[in-house]
Amino acid sequence: MFSRSTLLLQQLTTINAHRNISFKQLNEIKPILTRNLAWFSGQSAKQTFGGKLKRRLKNLLIITVVGVGTFYSYRGYRRYKWYSEMSDSDKTIGTKPRIVVLGTGWGAVPLLKHLDTQKYEVICVSPRNYFLMTPLLPSVSVGTVETRTVIESIRSLVGPRVKFVEATCINVDPKAKTITCNNNGEQNVSRGDDVKTIVAPPSRESGASSRIIKDSARTRPQFDMKYDILVVAVGSENNTFNTPGVEEHAHFLKELLDARRIRSAISDAFESAMTPTQTIAERKRLLHFVVVGGGPTGVEFAAELADLVREDLQHYFPRLVSSDVKITLIEALDHVLSMMDKKISDYTERHFRRENIDVLMNTFVKEVKQREVIIQLKGSEERISIPCSVVVWATGIKARPLTNRIREIIGSTIQTNRMGLLTDRYLRVKGVEDGSIFALGDCATIAQPKLVDQIQLLFEEADTQHRGSLDLNQFQTLVEKKVTEFPQLEIFSKSIEKAFAEADKEKSGYVTLTALRAILEKADQKIRALPATAQVASQEGRYVAHLLNQVTDIQSTDFKQQNLKPFQYKHMGALAYVGGDSAVLDFTGSKPVFDLFNLQPLSGRSAAYLWKSFYFTEMFTGRTKTLLAFDWVRTHIFGRDISRY
Ligand code: NAI
Repeated sequence: MFSRSTLLLQQLTTINAHRNISFKQLNEIKPILTRNLAWFSGQSAKQTFGGKLKRRLKNLLIITVVGVGTFYSYRGYRRYKWYSEMSDSDKTIGTKPRIVVLGTGWGAVPLLKHLDTQKYEVICVSPRNYFLMTPLLPSVSVGTVETRTVIESIRSLVGPRVKFVEATCINVDPKAKTITCNNNGEQNVSRGDDVKTIVAPPSRESGASSRIIKDSARTRPQFDMKYDILVVAVGSENNTFNTPGVEEHAHFLKELLDARRIRSAISDAFESAMTPTQTIAERKRLLHFVVVGGGPTGVEFAAELADLVREDLQHYFPRLVSSDVKITLIEALDHVLSMMDKKISDYTERHFRRENIDVLMNTFVKEVKQREVIIQLKGSEERISIPCSVVVWATGIKARPLTNRIREIIGSTIQTNRMGLLTDRYLRVKGVEDGSIFALGDCATIAQPKLVDQIQLLFEEADTQHRGSLDLNQFQTLVEKKVTEFPQLEIFSKSIEKAFAEADKEKSGYVTLTALRAILEKADQKIRALPATAQVASQEGRYVAHLLNQVTDIQSTDFKQQNLKPFQYKHMGALAYVGGDSAVLDFTGSKPVFDLFNLQPLSGRSAAYLWKSFYFTEMFTGRTKTLLAFDWVRTHIFGRDISRY
């Protein structure tokens, strides 16, 4: 048997063979090695519990000191950078162009964070002085996550290098390059305590310790502000499709206040149902929750509500939950989550059945009353009443009044899209001649040029030999060269030979102008407006920031000449939480990373972990990340807080 030190020496000799170190030379260090090995093995054998604890505590202390030190150094550095940028930037105010950004949402915040304040004076105007993590609103509405977790002050996000003015923009004058904010004397800003004006009478009741004071600072004077470049990122609002009673009796789920109101309403329904004199029918009505719209908002809210009932309310109201509680999701189409893969819709519907959520498909809600919703099945004239108490309306979005006002000013012959402001592929609003207004996010739609409108030009450019027809190589070059300008050409990029063979019906090896038109028309049919998602808005915000940082001449509208690239959206997949610790993920159409792996739609627990980790990383700051982690742990251990406040 060799000793450990001899084995080690042999290994060292082999490793150092090329250095001509002999075993004999190395043998000279054997006593040192033996001594050291003995010391190490002695140490590990000797370690007592107390010793181990001491060593671990010491390590923990070192990690804490280094961690806290790094955090404070980073914070100090960030503040130093903000203030030095602000003071440098202030010195040149008046000499540099002013960018006014309207909004503090998914499009505006990435834009504000990346704009170069040395080059521009940047002012943000919005009636909301915080960024809201909208995908977590369903979690807030049932108390899985607390309200302060999903908001971050805009000032802490962008620092003093960007000026923020809390105001509502009500008009834009593209000729004078001015915006008008606030209606004189009107109350423009909303605060969290607005919720109390609904649940509590305006004056103090006997014994009540708090009341609502209308302090003077809540009204804002009207003002005008000049801009050189205006970026409209005002988002969208709920679409009721003029359904009677929705504004008066249904809850939306778009703002923080909506989530708080829903949380109070759920609590109210249970407390009211517990009143001893309630009849069975009234109890059933009070505990019937109706969600209208099977898009991601409606599905996620229904899922969170089912979690709340199963995981918490069941313990506090066991009789009510077993006999009276009912959740119904109503969808006008024949499946939920229609924008996702069919497999995902089917999975969600099966999963909802297991979670005791009734899904009514092919059903329209025609009216919402205080104590019922009126529905109509597709193909039927009959109207059916469903008694219920809380109705959450999530049937999609429409343009805000300001967006419509800008469309009106520019003219509806140019601004033809009722959903939002039509822009070119650099996100500049169409119809603004000097290109000084950009629009992004939910309030904007990129006008996609059609291939058939420019077919003659495209054909002539591709037909380099002036033959009057294109061969496979020329067709391939055309697709590759024009795919950035016409993203719909992407449908050919994977199977160019197949597309060419389809067009070349006579198998001549060439396609004529008529044949080319037929396949390009097919590609044009694939043109779709980008979805109104956070993913699109944040990519657009980042894009406009980089574009404006790179622009050498803001007076020139020729961005091609300045070598600036148009916006290209990279879809990373869609995801939604469906309750019971399950989520669904759809990578269809995602590019470029996920496409390589040809990922299939994912559902279940693993998808839920991905959903959680995705939103965790998406949280904008360390503060909100920490709060979110604590909220999830708190809910898991102690359950949700069901008290109404
Ligand atoms: P949506 O437009 O996606 O879905 C609304 C649904 O309501 C549609 O399926 C429609 O058929 C149905 N509907 C409309 N009127 C109805 C009526 N009278 N009765 C019954 N059903 C009716 O709207 P949603 O969910 O509010 O989302 C808005 C936007 O935000 C979408 O673009 C969506 O993709 C995006 N979003 C994405 C999320 C995600 O990716 N996780 C989460 C939340 C929103």
